[in-house]
Amino acid sequence: MARQAYRASLFHLLEEPQPGRPALEGWFEDGGLLIEDGVVLEAGAWDSIAPRLTREVAVTRYPDALIVPGFIDAHVHFPQIDMIASPGAQLMDWLTHYTYPAEERFSDAGLARQTADFFLDQLLRHGTTTALVFATVHKTAVEALFESALARNMRLISGKVLMDRNAPAGICDTAETGYQDSRALIRAWHGRARLGYAVTPRFALTSSERQLELGGRLLSENPGVRLHTHLAENHEEISIVRRLFPDCADYLAVYEKFGLATPHSVFAHGVHLSDGEWQRLGRCGSAIAFCPTSNLFLGSGLFDSASARRNHVPVGFGTDVGAGTSLSLLQTMNEAYKVSQMRKSPLGAFELFHLATLGGAKALKLDRQIGNFAPGKEADFLVLDLKATPLIARRLARTKPPEELLFALAILGDDRMVAETFLAGRSVYKKSPSNGPPHDGA
Ligand code: GUN
Ligand code: ZN
Repeated sequence: MARQAYRASLFHLLEEPQPGRPALEGWFEDGGLLIEDGVVLEAGAWDSIAPRLTREVAVTRYPDALIVPGFIDAHVHFPQIDMIASPGAQLMDWLTHYTYPAEERFSDAGLARQTADFFLDQLLRHGTTTALVFATVHKTAVEALFESALARNMRLISGKVLMDRNAPAGICDTAETGYQDSRALIRAWHGRARLGYAVTPRFALTSSERQLELGGRLLSENPGVRLHTHLAENHEEISIVRRLFPDCADYLAVYEKFGLATPHSVFAHGVHLSDGEWQRLGRCGSAIAFCPTSNLFLGSGLFDSASARRNHVPVGFGTDVGAGTSLSLLQTMNEAYKVSQMRKSPLGAFELFHLATLGGAKALKLDRQIGNFAPGKEADFLVLDLKATPLIARRLARTKPPEELLFALAILGDDRMVAETFLAGRSVYKKSPSNGPPHDGA
Protein backbone atom coordinates (compact mmCIF):
# COMPACT_ATOMS: atom_id res chain seq x y z
CA MET A 1 0.00 0.00 0.00
CA ALA A 2 1.51 3.33 -1.00
CA ARG A 3 0.96 6.66 0.68
CA GLN A 4 -2.60 7.94 0.81
CA ALA A 5 -4.01 11.26 1.98
CA TYR A 6 -7.56 12.05 3.05
CA ARG A 7 -8.89 15.59 3.33
CA ALA A 8 -11.93 16.58 5.41
CA SER A 9 -12.58 18.01 8.85
CA LEU A 10 -10.75 15.86 11.38
CA PHE A 11 -11.09 15.22 15.11
CA HIS A 12 -9.21 13.00 17.52
CA LEU A 13 -8.13 13.15 21.14
CA LEU A 14 -4.47 13.03 22.08
CA GLU A 15 -5.27 12.61 25.76
CA GLU A 16 -8.18 12.17 28.12
CA PRO A 17 -10.15 15.45 28.28
CA GLN A 18 -10.02 17.07 31.71
CA PRO A 19 -12.87 19.21 33.01
CA GLY A 20 -12.29 22.78 31.88
CA ARG A 21 -9.33 21.82 29.70
CA PRO A 22 -10.61 20.48 26.36
CA ALA A 23 -8.05 18.89 24.08
CA LEU A 24 -8.71 21.28 21.21
CA GLU A 25 -5.45 20.51 19.46
CA GLY A 26 -7.25 17.50 17.97
CA TRP A 27 -9.77 19.52 15.90
CA PHE A 28 -9.00 20.62 12.32
CA GLU A 29 -11.74 22.27 10.28
CA ASP A 30 -9.76 21.73 7.05
CA GLY A 31 -7.84 18.67 8.13
CA GLY A 32 -5.94 15.82 6.63
CA LEU A 33 -4.77 12.32 7.40
CA LEU A 34 -1.64 11.03 5.73
CA ILE A 35 -1.01 7.29 5.93
CA GLU A 36 1.47 4.79 4.59
CA ASP A 37 1.23 1.01 4.62
CA GLY A 38 -1.79 1.16 6.91
CA VAL A 39 -0.09 3.35 9.51
CA VAL A 40 -0.59 7.04 10.37
CA LEU A 41 2.22 9.33 9.23
CA GLU A 42 0.55 12.59 10.18
CA ALA A 43 -2.83 14.05 11.09
CA GLY A 44 -3.53 17.73 11.32
CA ALA A 45 -4.28 20.88 9.38
CA TRP A 46 -4.35 20.33 5.61
CA ASP A 47 -1.81 23.13 5.26
CA SER A 48 0.74 21.07 7.17
CA ILE A 49 -0.02 17.85 5.26
CA ALA A 50 0.06 19.39 1.78
CA PRO A 51 3.84 20.02 1.66
CA ARG A 52 4.43 16.29 2.29
CA LEU A 53 2.49 15.23 -0.78
CA THR A 54 4.45 13.99 -3.72
CA ARG A 55 2.85 13.39 -7.11
CA GLU A 56 2.26 9.70 -6.47
CA VAL A 57 0.23 10.23 -3.27
CA ALA A 58 -3.45 9.59 -3.90
CA VAL A 59 -5.57 12.31 -2.33
CA THR A 60 -9.23 11.72 -1.50
CA ARG A 61 -11.31 14.72 -0.57
CA TYR A 62 -14.60 14.39 1.32
CA PRO A 63 -16.84 17.47 1.35
CA ASP A 64 -19.14 17.88 4.37
CA ALA A 65 -17.42 15.08 6.22
CA LEU A 66 -15.53 14.45 9.44
CA ILE A 67 -12.69 11.97 9.85
CA VAL A 68 -12.49 10.37 13.31
CA PRO A 69 -10.67 7.34 14.71
CA GLY A 70 -12.55 4.04 14.36
CA PHE A 71 -14.88 3.34 17.27
CA ILE A 72 -14.04 0.72 19.88
CA ASP A 73 -16.71 -1.54 21.39
CA ALA A 74 -15.28 -2.84 24.67
CA HIS A 75 -18.08 -5.35 25.31
CA VAL A 76 -20.40 -7.07 22.84
CA HIS A 77 -21.76 -10.61 22.28
CA PHE A 78 -21.61 -11.84 18.67
CA PRO A 79 -24.02 -14.81 19.05
CA GLN A 80 -26.65 -12.47 20.49
CA ILE A 81 -26.98 -10.45 17.28
CA ASP A 82 -30.00 -12.57 16.30
CA MET A 83 -31.91 -11.98 19.55
CA ILE A 84 -31.30 -8.23 19.95
CA ALA A 85 -34.53 -6.50 20.99
CA SER A 86 -36.03 -9.47 22.83
CA PRO A 87 -38.56 -8.07 25.26
CA GLY A 88 -39.05 -8.32 28.89
CA ALA A 89 -37.80 -8.81 32.35
CA GLN A 90 -34.42 -8.23 33.89
CA LEU A 91 -31.08 -9.95 33.54
CA MET A 92 -31.67 -13.42 35.00
CA ASP A 93 -35.01 -13.98 33.19
CA TRP A 94 -33.64 -12.54 29.97
CA LEU A 95 -30.67 -14.95 30.09
CA THR A 96 -32.92 -17.95 30.71
CA HIS A 97 -35.61 -17.20 28.16
CA TYR A 98 -33.68 -15.69 25.24
CA THR A 99 -29.93 -15.72 25.64
CA TYR A 100 -29.10 -19.28 26.63
CA PRO A 101 -31.39 -20.84 23.98
CA ALA A 102 -29.87 -18.54 21.31
CA GLU A 103 -26.33 -19.50 22.34
CA GLU A 104 -27.12 -23.25 22.36
CA ARG A 105 -27.63 -23.05 18.59
CA PHE A 106 -23.96 -22.17 18.16
CA SER A 107 -22.94 -25.80 18.52
CA ASP A 108 -23.63 -25.60 14.77
CA ALA A 109 -20.31 -24.42 13.29
CA GLY A 110 -22.01 -23.37 10.03
CA LEU A 111 -24.37 -21.06 11.89
CA ALA A 112 -21.40 -19.63 13.83
CA ARG A 113 -19.48 -18.89 10.62
CA GLN A 114 -22.40 -17.24 8.88
CA THR A 115 -23.27 -15.20 12.00
CA ALA A 116 -19.65 -14.12 12.55
CA ASP A 117 -19.46 -12.74 9.01
CA PHE A 118 -22.76 -10.90 9.40
CA PHE A 119 -21.80 -9.56 12.83
CA LEU A 120 -18.43 -8.16 11.73
CA ASP A 121 -19.92 -6.58 8.62
CA GLN A 122 -22.47 -4.90 10.88
CA LEU A 123 -19.72 -3.60 13.18
CA LEU A 124 -17.95 -2.02 10.20
CA ARG A 125 -21.19 -0.51 8.94
CA HIS A 126 -21.72 1.05 12.37
CA GLY A 127 -18.16 2.42 12.46
CA THR A 128 -16.72 -0.04 14.96
CA THR A 129 -13.21 -1.06 13.98
CA THR A 130 -12.12 -2.85 17.18
CA ALA A 131 -14.14 -4.94 19.60
CA LEU A 132 -13.80 -7.11 22.68
CA VAL A 133 -16.30 -9.85 21.95
CA PHE A 134 -18.05 -12.60 23.90
CA ALA A 135 -18.48 -15.73 21.80
CA THR A 136 -20.20 -18.85 23.20
CA VAL A 137 -18.94 -21.87 25.11
CA HIS A 138 -18.22 -23.60 21.77
CA LYS A 139 -14.60 -23.60 20.61
CA THR A 140 -15.75 -23.70 16.99
CA ALA A 141 -17.72 -20.46 17.43
CA VAL A 142 -14.56 -18.64 18.58
CA GLU A 143 -12.62 -20.06 15.65
CA ALA A 144 -15.33 -18.83 13.27
CA LEU A 145 -15.15 -15.31 14.69
CA PHE A 146 -11.34 -15.14 14.59
CA GLU A 147 -11.29 -16.44 11.01
CA SER A 148 -13.80 -13.83 9.98
CA ALA A 149 -11.83 -11.02 11.69
CA LEU A 150 -8.58 -12.26 10.16
CA ALA A 151 -10.11 -12.14 6.67
CA ARG A 152 -11.01 -8.46 7.28
CA ASN A 153 -7.69 -7.60 9.00
CA MET A 154 -9.75 -6.35 11.94
CA ARG A 155 -8.43 -5.75 15.43
CA LEU A 156 -10.48 -8.02 17.65
CA ILE A 157 -10.20 -9.74 21.03
CA SER A 158 -12.38 -12.70 21.88
CA GLY A 159 -12.47 -15.95 23.78
CA LYS A 160 -14.37 -19.11 24.49
CA VAL A 161 -16.98 -18.60 27.20
CA LEU A 162 -16.27 -20.59 30.36
CA MET A 163 -19.41 -21.81 32.15
CA ASP A 164 -19.66 -25.09 34.05
CA ARG A 165 -22.71 -24.61 36.31
CA ASN A 166 -26.12 -22.94 36.69
CA ALA A 167 -26.84 -23.02 32.94
CA PRO A 168 -28.38 -25.52 30.45
CA ALA A 169 -26.22 -28.58 29.76
CA GLY A 170 -25.95 -27.66 26.06
CA ILE A 171 -23.87 -24.59 26.86
CA CYS A 172 -21.83 -25.95 29.76
CA ASP A 173 -18.23 -27.12 29.64
CA THR A 174 -16.20 -28.50 32.53
CA ALA A 175 -13.38 -26.78 34.34
CA GLU A 176 -10.88 -29.08 32.61
CA THR A 177 -12.28 -28.90 29.05
CA GLY A 178 -12.71 -25.14 29.40
CA TYR A 179 -9.06 -24.84 30.34
CA GLN A 180 -7.84 -27.14 27.54
CA ASP A 181 -9.96 -25.48 24.84
CA SER A 182 -8.89 -22.00 25.96
CA ARG A 183 -5.24 -23.01 25.93
CA ALA A 184 -5.51 -24.42 22.42
CA LEU A 185 -7.27 -21.25 21.21
CA ILE A 186 -4.64 -18.99 22.79
CA ARG A 187 -1.89 -20.93 21.02
CA ALA A 188 -3.67 -20.76 17.68
CA TRP A 189 -4.88 -17.16 17.74
CA HIS A 190 -3.40 -14.84 20.37
CA GLY A 191 -1.10 -12.29 18.73
CA ARG A 192 -1.85 -13.52 15.20
CA ALA A 193 -2.31 -10.56 12.81
CA ARG A 194 -4.49 -8.11 14.75
CA LEU A 195 -6.15 -10.68 17.02
CA GLY A 196 -5.94 -11.18 20.76
CA TYR A 197 -7.38 -13.64 23.23
CA ALA A 198 -9.48 -13.02 26.36
CA VAL A 199 -10.11 -15.65 29.01
CA THR A 200 -13.89 -15.31 29.28
CA PRO A 201 -15.74 -16.72 32.30
CA ARG A 202 -19.37 -15.64 31.66
CA PHE A 203 -19.77 -14.33 35.23
CA ALA A 204 -19.06 -15.63 38.73
CA LEU A 205 -22.48 -17.22 38.86
CA THR A 206 -21.90 -19.77 36.06
CA SER A 207 -18.39 -20.92 36.99
CA SER A 208 -17.26 -23.29 39.74
CA GLU A 209 -14.39 -22.28 41.99
CA ARG A 210 -12.21 -24.78 40.11
CA GLN A 211 -13.05 -23.16 36.77
CA LEU A 212 -12.23 -19.66 38.05
CA GLU A 213 -8.99 -20.99 39.48
CA LEU A 214 -8.03 -22.44 36.09
CA GLY A 215 -9.00 -19.13 34.49
CA GLY A 216 -6.44 -17.44 36.75
CA ARG A 217 -3.90 -20.03 35.75
CA LEU A 218 -4.50 -19.31 32.03
CA LEU A 219 -3.81 -15.61 32.71
CA SER A 220 -0.57 -16.25 34.57
CA GLU A 221 0.62 -18.75 31.97
CA ASN A 222 -0.11 -16.38 29.06
CA PRO A 223 1.02 -12.80 29.69
CA GLY A 224 -0.85 -10.25 27.60
CA VAL A 225 -4.00 -12.37 27.37
CA ARG A 226 -7.03 -10.37 28.58
CA LEU A 227 -9.74 -11.28 31.07
CA HIS A 228 -13.31 -10.48 30.03
CA THR A 229 -16.38 -11.04 32.19
CA HIS A 230 -19.44 -9.37 33.76
CA LEU A 231 -19.47 -7.64 37.16
CA ALA A 232 -22.19 -6.19 39.39
CA GLU A 233 -24.81 -5.59 36.70
CA ASN A 234 -28.02 -6.43 38.51
CA HIS A 235 -29.19 -6.75 42.14
CA GLU A 236 -30.49 -10.34 41.83
CA GLU A 237 -27.25 -11.42 40.18
CA ILE A 238 -25.26 -9.86 43.02
CA SER A 239 -27.27 -11.62 45.71
CA ILE A 240 -26.81 -15.01 43.98
CA VAL A 241 -23.06 -14.42 43.79
CA ARG A 242 -23.04 -13.58 47.49
CA ARG A 243 -24.77 -16.92 48.24
CA LEU A 244 -22.43 -18.92 45.97
CA PHE A 245 -19.23 -17.38 47.36
CA PRO A 246 -19.95 -16.80 51.07
CA ASP A 247 -16.28 -16.29 51.90
CA CYS A 248 -15.99 -13.30 49.52
CA ALA A 249 -16.89 -9.90 50.96
CA ASP A 250 -18.28 -8.58 47.67
CA TYR A 251 -18.56 -9.41 43.95
CA LEU A 252 -15.15 -8.09 42.93
CA ALA A 253 -13.55 -10.15 45.71
CA VAL A 254 -14.58 -13.32 43.83
CA TYR A 255 -12.52 -12.31 40.81
CA GLU A 256 -9.68 -11.09 43.03
CA LYS A 257 -9.60 -14.42 44.88
CA PHE A 258 -8.82 -16.27 41.66
CA GLY A 259 -6.32 -13.77 40.21
CA LEU A 260 -8.80 -12.45 37.64
CA ALA A 261 -8.65 -8.73 38.55
CA THR A 262 -5.57 -7.55 36.67
CA PRO A 263 -4.57 -4.56 34.51
CA HIS A 264 -5.57 -6.72 31.54
CA SER A 265 -9.12 -7.32 32.84
CA VAL A 266 -12.28 -5.76 31.42
CA PHE A 267 -15.43 -6.03 33.50
CA ALA A 268 -18.71 -5.28 31.79
CA HIS A 269 -21.26 -3.07 33.59
CA GLY A 270 -20.05 -2.40 37.16
CA VAL A 271 -23.36 -0.65 37.82
CA HIS A 272 -23.63 -1.53 41.51
CA LEU A 273 -20.16 -1.24 43.00
CA SER A 274 -19.36 -0.21 46.57
CA ASP A 275 -16.84 2.54 47.30
CA GLY A 276 -14.40 -0.17 48.35
CA GLU A 277 -14.79 -2.02 45.03
CA TRP A 278 -14.22 1.22 43.08
CA GLN A 279 -11.07 1.91 45.06
CA ARG A 280 -9.74 -1.61 44.53
CA LEU A 281 -10.49 -1.43 40.80
CA GLY A 282 -8.52 1.82 40.67
CA ARG A 283 -5.58 0.18 42.40
CA CYS A 284 -5.47 -2.98 40.30
CA GLY A 285 -5.91 -1.15 36.96
CA SER A 286 -8.82 -3.26 35.66
CA ALA A 287 -11.21 -1.52 33.27
CA ILE A 288 -14.98 -1.22 33.11
CA ALA A 289 -17.10 -1.38 29.97
CA PHE A 290 -19.94 1.13 30.40
CA CYS A 291 -22.97 -0.29 28.56
CA PRO A 292 -25.71 2.35 28.72
CA THR A 293 -28.19 0.96 26.20
CA SER A 294 -28.07 -2.45 27.87
CA ASN A 295 -28.23 -1.10 31.42
CA LEU A 296 -31.35 0.84 30.48
CA PHE A 297 -32.94 -1.94 28.41
CA LEU A 298 -32.64 -4.55 31.19
CA GLY A 299 -33.41 -1.99 33.90
CA SER A 300 -30.05 -2.73 35.51
CA GLY A 301 -29.26 0.78 36.68
CA LEU A 302 -27.37 4.02 36.05
CA PHE A 303 -23.59 3.73 35.70
CA ASP A 304 -21.60 6.04 37.96
CA SER A 305 -19.04 7.72 35.68
CA ALA A 306 -18.02 10.14 38.42
CA SER A 307 -16.85 7.29 40.71
CA ALA A 308 -14.89 5.78 37.83
CA ARG A 309 -13.18 9.12 37.18
CA ARG A 310 -12.51 9.77 40.88
CA ASN A 311 -10.86 6.37 41.27
CA HIS A 312 -8.94 6.51 37.96
CA VAL A 313 -10.64 3.39 36.64
CA PRO A 314 -10.21 3.07 32.86
CA VAL A 315 -13.61 3.08 31.12
CA GLY A 316 -14.62 2.30 27.56
CA PHE A 317 -18.04 1.90 25.98
CA GLY A 318 -19.71 -1.47 25.44
CA THR A 319 -22.79 -1.84 23.29
CA ASP A 320 -23.49 -5.21 24.98
CA VAL A 321 -25.69 -6.34 22.11
CA GLY A 322 -28.01 -8.37 22.48
CA ALA A 323 -29.00 -6.73 25.82
CA GLY A 324 -27.78 -3.50 24.26
CA THR A 325 -30.14 -2.07 21.70
CA SER A 326 -27.72 -0.76 19.08
CA LEU A 327 -24.29 -1.56 17.65
CA SER A 328 -23.74 2.15 17.10
CA LEU A 329 -21.23 3.85 19.39
CA LEU A 330 -22.94 7.15 18.47
CA GLN A 331 -26.22 5.82 19.83
CA THR A 332 -24.29 4.56 22.85
CA MET A 333 -22.98 8.11 23.44
CA ASN A 334 -26.53 9.41 23.26
CA GLU A 335 -27.76 7.01 25.95
CA ALA A 336 -24.63 7.51 28.07
CA TYR A 337 -25.28 11.23 28.09
CA LYS A 338 -28.83 10.67 29.38
CA VAL A 339 -27.58 8.29 32.08
CA SER A 340 -25.02 10.88 33.16
CA GLN A 341 -27.78 13.50 33.30
CA MET A 342 -29.81 11.26 35.61
CA ARG A 343 -26.66 10.93 37.73
CA LYS A 344 -26.38 14.77 37.84
CA SER A 345 -22.90 14.57 36.35
CA PRO A 346 -23.38 15.16 32.62
CA LEU A 347 -20.69 13.92 30.24
CA GLY A 348 -19.43 16.42 27.67
CA ALA A 349 -18.92 15.84 23.96
CA PHE A 350 -15.17 15.33 24.31
CA GLU A 351 -15.69 12.78 27.08
CA LEU A 352 -18.26 10.91 25.00
CA PHE A 353 -15.89 10.68 22.01
CA HIS A 354 -13.03 9.75 24.32
CA LEU A 355 -15.02 6.80 25.70
CA ALA A 356 -15.66 5.57 22.15
CA THR A 357 -12.04 5.96 20.96
CA LEU A 358 -8.94 6.54 23.10
CA GLY A 359 -10.70 5.56 26.35
CA GLY A 360 -11.75 2.25 24.82
CA ALA A 361 -8.22 1.68 23.54
CA LYS A 362 -6.84 2.29 27.02
CA ALA A 363 -9.42 0.00 28.59
CA LEU A 364 -8.34 -2.79 26.21
CA LYS A 365 -4.62 -1.95 26.66
CA LEU A 366 -4.44 -1.19 22.93
CA ASP A 367 -3.64 2.53 23.11
CA ARG A 368 -0.18 2.01 21.66
CA GLN A 369 -1.83 0.70 18.48
CA ILE A 370 -5.16 2.53 18.14
CA GLY A 371 -7.47 5.17 19.66
CA ASN A 372 -6.24 8.31 17.87
CA PHE A 373 -4.09 9.47 14.94
CA ALA A 374 -0.74 9.80 16.69
CA PRO A 375 2.03 9.01 14.19
CA GLY A 376 2.76 5.28 14.02
CA LYS A 377 -0.72 4.16 15.05
CA GLU A 378 -2.76 1.82 12.88
CA ALA A 379 -4.95 3.76 10.46
CA ASP A 380 -8.40 2.58 11.55
CA PHE A 381 -10.71 5.49 10.78
CA LEU A 382 -14.18 6.62 9.78
CA VAL A 383 -15.55 9.21 7.42
CA LEU A 384 -18.72 10.59 8.99
CA ASP A 385 -21.25 12.19 6.65
CA LEU A 386 -22.22 15.54 8.18
CA LYS A 387 -25.25 15.66 5.88
CA ALA A 388 -26.39 12.10 6.55
CA THR A 389 -29.99 13.16 7.10
CA PRO A 390 -31.82 16.41 6.44
CA LEU A 391 -32.24 16.98 10.17
CA ILE A 392 -28.55 16.41 10.93
CA ALA A 393 -27.52 18.70 8.06
CA ARG A 394 -29.86 21.45 9.27
CA ARG A 395 -28.87 21.11 12.92
CA LEU A 396 -25.14 21.07 12.18
CA ALA A 397 -25.44 24.22 10.07
CA ARG A 398 -26.37 25.93 13.32
CA THR A 399 -23.60 24.54 15.54
CA LYS A 400 -20.20 25.87 16.50
CA PRO A 401 -17.40 23.33 16.03
CA PRO A 402 -15.96 21.42 17.60
CA GLU A 403 -17.77 20.88 20.88
CA GLU A 404 -21.34 21.74 19.85
CA LEU A 405 -20.95 19.88 16.58
CA LEU A 406 -19.59 16.73 18.27
CA PHE A 407 -22.34 16.87 20.85
CA ALA A 408 -25.03 17.03 18.16
CA LEU A 409 -23.40 14.07 16.41
CA ALA A 410 -23.38 12.11 19.66
CA ILE A 411 -27.07 12.73 20.24
CA LEU A 412 -28.41 12.50 16.65
CA GLY A 413 -25.93 10.12 15.02
CA ASP A 414 -26.17 6.45 14.19
CA ASP A 415 -24.99 4.12 11.42
CA ARG A 416 -26.46 6.44 8.76
CA MET A 417 -23.60 8.84 9.50
CA VAL A 418 -20.89 6.33 8.64
CA ALA A 419 -20.00 7.04 5.01
CA GLU A 420 -16.85 4.90 4.91
CA THR A 421 -14.85 2.69 7.29
CA PHE A 422 -11.13 1.96 6.95
CA LEU A 423 -9.13 -0.81 8.63
CA ALA A 424 -5.35 -0.29 8.63
CA GLY A 425 -5.69 2.13 5.72
CA ARG A 426 -7.96 -0.09 3.60
CA SER A 427 -11.57 0.83 2.82
CA VAL A 428 -13.79 -2.01 4.07
CA TYR A 429 -17.24 -0.41 4.09
CA LYS A 430 -18.82 2.28 1.97
CA LYS A 431 -22.38 3.50 2.42
CA SER A 432 -24.46 3.18 -0.70
CA PRO A 433 -25.05 6.62 -2.20
CA SER A 434 -28.80 6.22 -2.25
CA ASN A 435 -30.59 7.04 0.98
CA GLY A 436 -33.94 6.35 -0.55
CA PRO A 437 -36.05 3.23 -0.09
CA PRO A 438 -34.94 0.18 -2.09
CA HIS A 439 -36.88 -0.35 -5.30
CA ASP A 440 -37.19 -3.36 -7.53
CA GLY A 441 -36.16 -1.60 -10.73
CA ALA A 442 -39.59 -2.07 -12.32
N1 GUN B 1 -24.30 -11.58 32.52
C1 GUN B 1 -23.98 -12.87 32.22
N2 GUN B 1 -24.20 -13.12 30.91
C2 GUN B 1 -24.66 -11.98 30.37
C3 GUN B 1 -25.06 -11.62 29.05
O1 GUN B 1 -25.04 -12.40 28.11
N3 GUN B 1 -25.49 -10.33 28.89
C4 GUN B 1 -25.52 -9.44 29.91
N4 GUN B 1 -25.94 -8.20 29.69
N5 GUN B 1 -25.16 -9.76 31.15
C5 GUN B 1 -24.74 -11.01 31.39
ZN1 ZN C 1 -22.60 -8.67 28.28
